[in-house]
Amino acid sequence: MEDGIRGGVAVVTGAARGIGAAVAGALASAGAAVAAIDLDADGLAKTVAGADGRVLPFTADVADSAAIAEVVGQVERELGPITIGVPVAGILRPGSVTDTSDEDWAATFAVNTTGVFTVLREVSRRMVPRRRGVLVTVGSNAAGVPRTGMAAYAASKAAATMLTRCLGLELAGSGIRCNIVSPGSTDTEMQRLLWTDENGAARVIAGDPAQFRAGIPLGRIADPADIADAVVFLASDRARHITMQNPYVDGGATLRA
Ligand SMILES: NC(=O)c1ccc[n+]([C@@H]2O[C@H](COP(=O)([O-])OP(=O)(O)OC[C@H]3O[C@@H](n4cnc5c(N)ncnc54)[C@H](O)[C@@H]3O)[C@@H](O)[C@H]2O)c1
Repeated sequence: MEDGIRGGVAVVTGAARGIGAAVAGALASAGAAVAAIDLDADGLAKTVAGADGRVLPFTADVADSAAIAEVVGQVERELGPITIGVPVAGILRPGSVTDTSDEDWAATFAVNTTGVFTVLREVSRRMVPRRRGVLVTVGSNAAGVPRTGMAAYAASKAAATMLTRCLGLELAGSGIRCNIVSPGSTDTEMQRLLWTDENGAARVIAGDPAQFRAGIPLGRIADPADIADAVVFLASDRARHITMQNPYVDGGATLRA
């Protein structure tokens, strides 16, 4: 699994907690030097302390393209050529379309879509002349199936998914692979914000016909490590013939709609 990862340099955004922290830790364990990027410096310090490998913190906002261009340059100066890019940072502001403000819509797209675009662009510009690299965007199963109360989020994730697949087509001739991992309900702060009481997880697993949600056939909420495992596989040479793909790591929740 480590082939293609060991000795490389990975950039992971949203790495202060949750799925991003798990991805940063997993890539470090597989032998990459990891640049962990997030707004939350305290959270980044915890990711660094918990890692079994080399993780360095970089505080930056993925919605600020100048800051991301700067930090990507700094990572290459300090760690060497970036070989793996994983945009994970995302936000969820639940609400029906009729209740979504201009600000909620803009903020959601600024982080979940433009933030992914900026990171992929800055990293791939450096990978192309070297003809080496792999990119894995963390999307969402909400990008593939309509959900109530999540339209802005789902639309922003669908855009990030297609952006990543188009980039995969543009970069295939340079030997650079681009894939997406689309999690379903995963036990993180973002997910727990949706739970109103101690039965929140059980309700997600059971599903809710009133919300047209089928539940989770495998009967559990994902751990962040479940998502990180899929990212590490796609980043490794074992996935060397896989590009423009979008596996759902959701316990079957979307029935792969
Ligand atoms: N948890 C789930 O159930 C679930 C399901 C599907 C998809 N996802 C996606 O997985 C990714 C990670 O989610 P999570 O559950 O770990 O979320 P989380 O809220 O626990 O963590 C998100 C991290 O991103 C960082 N972040 C947010 N905005 C940022 C910005 N502008 N610049 C830099 N960092 C920023 C936060 O500080 C935080 O550390 C997100 O893209 C999310 O949409 C999560």
